[in-house]
Amino acid sequence: MERTKFKEKAKAYHGEMVNIRRHLHRYPELSYQEYETTDFIIDQLAELDIPVDHPLETGCVGIIEGKKSSEKVVALRADIDALPIIEEGNYKDEFFSENEGIAHCCGHDAHTANLLGAAHILADLRDEIEGTVLLVFQPGEEKLPGGGRLLCETGYLQEKGVDVIYGLHSYPELQPGQIAVKKGPLMARPDEFKIEVIGKGGHAASPHQAVDPIVMASQIVGQLQTIVSRNVNPTEHAVVTVGKISGGAAHNIIPEKVELLGTVRTFAQETADMIKNRVESIVKSVTEASGGGYTFEFDYGYPAVTNTDWATDNLVHVAQNLLGEKHVHILDGPIMAGEDFAFYQQEFPGTFFFLGSGSKKTDSTYSWHHPKYNVDEDCFLTGAALMASLVFEPIPKSG
Ligand code: NI
Repeated sequence: MERTKFKEKAKAYHGEMVNIRRHLHRYPELSYQEYETTDFIIDQLAELDIPVDHPLETGCVGIIEGKKSSEKVVALRADIDALPIIEEGNYKDEFFSENEGIAHCCGHDAHTANLLGAAHILADLRDEIEGTVLLVFQPGEEKLPGGGRLLCETGYLQEKGVDVIYGLHSYPELQPGQIAVKKGPLMARPDEFKIEVIGKGGHAASPHQAVDPIVMASQIVGQLQTIVSRNVNPTEHAVVTVGKISGGAAHNIIPEKVELLGTVRTFAQETADMIKNRVESIVKSVTEASGGGYTFEFDYGYPAVTNTDWATDNLVHVAQNLLGEKHVHILDGPIMAGEDFAFYQQEFPGTFFFLGSGSKKTDSTYSWHHPKYNVDEDCFLTGAALMASLVFEPIPKSG
């Protein structure tokens, strides 16, 4: 099929995608509470005569039946939820969040708009589509257990016989018109831990009568740094970060306890298990040695995003054609952020990629989850064209 057609259509629907994105940005909803967002998506799809299914309470799946009969089923996925962040973006008057304390600071508004743009393109091309296209608007990417996991657990996509699934994330490190991807591991397993360091409170001037949880917590944070440097195989990627530490009330009181929240990023389950054990043994030994106590919780998050070779070849092929070879970046290594797209990849072949969305002129180079996170809306020109094109790529017989 003529590639330029996808580009032209993405351009024709660009204004629409911008409006959709700004509407969603203005009315963000938290994970698993995306009711209005879902209704909005359903209305948009209805205008295109695309029926929807509701395998979960929020989110939906649009179904495009191609006119050419075939068993082929291609799924395209967007996530739709926002974050509990007070946004600070420089677009205040235009489309600032009207839902207090909630904001689309991870670009899921853009992912949704982009997939709706692809829906427009595909609706136009129905006569040329072989088989079925599923437009997966998934809730709850930002929050465990993960909307992707819940959707896979319903068995809905398995029943539909999905052959391949593609997804993307806006990517501030590249400009619109560029993408980045790699075969194999692309994004890490994000696991979480919560540690309570329990001491004995007292007067700050009488530390000998207390057990100081702040001192214990400080030692723990220090020792946790040795896990990646001393226990993880240096050829492997891993991160242990304490992201929140809280305890104490005043300068002259030794508190009863201190809470530490953190994340572990790895690629292999065994490495995650090893780190979990090391974290707990450090907490145990430090608190024991100081006469304190602890509680320890470890939540396994999402698996690692691992791209299927042939689906990645499809993407690279399409992208090189649409964007030009030099705009398709093959990453040297994975990144340590996590994504619940990984759950789909445990069930189906699939590829996840990064869509360049950062530019100085739109002040959109802030990292994911930054209160000023923004996307350069020109990314829809590339993103919608790419997603729509992928539907026409071959599925290997053995795949
Ligand atoms: Ni995200």
